[in-house]
Amino acid sequence: MLGFHEDAILLSGPAGTGLKTRILGKYYEFWWKITSGGESKRNEFPTAIVDMNAGSGELYIKELGRTLLGSAGHAMQLKFDLGYPTDALKLAFVEEDPQCFSHLQNVIRKRWPSLRLDQATGPIDRNTSGVYLFSLPLEDAVETVGLLNLGNSIYFFDPLLHVEMETIERVARSLIKYFFQRGTEFIIFVFTSDWFTGREYAWRKSLAPRPATSPRETWTGSEAETVASANSLFGDEDWQENVLNGASRNERQDAFIDEYRRRLMKWFRWVLPLPFIPKRGQLYHLVFCSNFEDGVKVTRDFYCLYTGNPRFNPDNQTAYEKFVARFPETTRGLWGFQRPIQWKILWHIIRYCEGGICDYGCKGIKEKGTREGVKAAMRWLSNEGYLRQLEGVPSAWASIPRYQLDWDKVRETLALLPPSKLKPITPEHFQRKQRRRS
Ligand SMILES: C[S@@+](CC[C@H](N)C(=O)[O-])C[C@H]1O[C@@H](n2cnc3c(N)ncnc32)[C@H](O)[C@@H]1O
Repeated sequence: MLGFHEDAILLSGPAGTGLKTRILGKYYEFWWKITSGGESKRNEFPTAIVDMNAGSGELYIKELGRTLLGSAGHAMQLKFDLGYPTDALKLAFVEEDPQCFSHLQNVIRKRWPSLRLDQATGPIDRNTSGVYLFSLPLEDAVETVGLLNLGNSIYFFDPLLHVEMETIERVARSLIKYFFQRGTEFIIFVFTSDWFTGREYAWRKSLAPRPATSPRETWTGSEAETVASANSLFGDEDWQENVLNGASRNERQDAFIDEYRRRLMKWFRWVLPLPFIPKRGQLYHLVFCSNFEDGVKVTRDFYCLYTGNPRFNPDNQTAYEKFVARFPETTRGLWGFQRPIQWKILWHIIRYCEGGICDYGCKGIKEKGTREGVKAAMRWLSNEGYLRQLEGVPSAWASIPRYQLDWDKVRETLALLPPSKLKPITPEHFQRKQRRRS
């Protein structure tokens, strides 16, 4: 049941929520340290965290009997409590539910009494507090938030049900204006299993379990409604073929999140869904979308650290020896620790490009040589079978080629295995970890 415990949103399931907020907090901190220019630039670059479903800033976990910071609370903590020079970090909180919004103001009053709430909720041109509060539906807030001149920004979408692809597209289109422009990241919460099992919140109309096979004539009224909602999540009906079939629920859940990932790749180079199990039988994802390879890599590393998934740590030396034995001509004229550009690019893709997806514009690829040198090396990698054109994903810039690493070829010739599929943390694993810590 949804409700409030004092000012905190009432939730159940310690594993999912605890992890989700902790990872989010860590990620905000990491992300801000880099995008603000770091210590050497005195963190002066403008940055922003835009929380599109801010909630009240606090979450109360019934099973733990504890209040944790929610997403907005973590953003506030980064700006005000961690001792960093965060003057150039702006926070924008959007909350459509008036009750939640009023609790959010209470939480700010209680925990951050020096923040001028009259300014934070007032006209943006007279607000010097660095924090902007909008009591608006997400769709109506997009334009106003766009006026804030934000710099590098994370947009967090954490709706109760789902956010429509149309909204995601509107925000993306207004922020990502040229080919995979960096500076905007999205994190989207998707309650994946809910689409299959229905939702238990009594005050909301329950979502019907997803029909296992496609024929529309057999759907009940609420099943048809669920499908219509999912159509708005995906922005089309094409997902149905891969999801509404007779496969097991786990397989269909995987297909569901993969369909979602692919659609987001229209605007983002990399989309990484991180799985969480809040309760046995439930599954949700935090979907990280970025055009910045370091961001995605560290997100994965963070997740692995917190969940016990193995970190991806391929053996560079052995793989390089195999590469040289196979392509000795690429090392001609090199000496000592110099490496051929083909190898440097290939290694970068293996190590840093999530899912092996890449293009000429990736920062770490671009910097490996001259424009022509990089293009020639990518062509070489395609000819040798390491890269193929990426297919089956939309792109906002369809004329610019994108590539996909062929992991079979890498496995065969360099004896490297791809990163393992991320396993969601189970409640039992989380409890053991908590006990070890206390
Ligand atoms: C899961 S909550 C957002 C939580 C927030 N992002 C966090 O991590 O702390 C998603 C949305 O559900 C709605 N909501 C949550 N709890 C509610 C409550 N008790 N009453 C009304 N709306 C609620 C709010 O609009 C909120 O933005």
